[in-house]
Amino acid sequence: MNLLVAAVFLAVSLFVVCPAEDVSEARLLASKNILNQYLVEGKDLTVEYRIFNVGGSAALGVQLKDDSFPEADFEVVNGNLQVQWERIAPNSNVTHAVILRPTKSGYFNFTSAEVSYKVSEEAAETQFGYTSAPGEGGIVNKKDFERRFSPHVLDWLVFAVMTLPSLGIPYLLWYSSKSRYDTPKPKKN
Ligand SMILES: *[C@@H]1O[C@H](CO)[C@@H](O)[C@H](O)[C@H]1NC(C)=O
Ligand SMILES: *[C@@H]1O[C@H](CO)[C@@H](O)[C@H](O)[C@H]1NC(C)=O
Repeated sequence: MNLLVAAVFLAVSLFVVCPAEDVSEARLLASKNILNQYLVEGKDLTVEYRIFNVGGSAALGVQLKDDSFPEADFEVVNGNLQVQWERIAPNSNVTHAVILRPTKSGYFNFTSAEVSYKVSEEAAETQFGYTSAPGEGGIVNKKDFERRFSPHVLDWLVFAVMTLPSLGIPYLLWYSSKSRYDTPKPKKN
């Protein structure tokens, strides 16, 4: 079933962006999650990035860059796939969200975004790392989705449930009276 496969696994696994040798330096962990339960062609999809600084000092010039959404497959509705923070204090976190719209149905492998930063004021080099990757998800065809989840189907279901007693009770009465009169009469000889 397409829809079952489409339910996205919200794996909140965190990847170590940089194995820090020195605890007094900044050390970032970053996650990337898809917040939607269903991924549907042409419907908004929210991607949330969260970066934690588990190190001992502020991370500087933090840059998050996600090149994993090809323009042919996704349209950016809101937000940026590249974002910067001047500093992320120790023991704090930042979040960022982007709204995208898949333009095609089918399987898509959601991979990680890139994070770069400086571990301290003195650091000459920039650290590079990756966020966690949400993994493979199925994007449901718009028509299939609408057929199953369209508000009209729901309306009809509610209507059917509400009318069931009023249709069902007369039917039962009719049925019982009918069977009373239909009992075969004994044949006259
Ligand atoms: C993220 O930071 C906010 C404050 O900026 C804090 O309330 C929240 O508990 C933090 N979350 C985690 C998981 O550390
Ligand atoms: C998704 O992409 C990642 C990274 O490129 C790769 O390791 C993984 O095997 C891919 N998963 C699937 C199901 O193709």
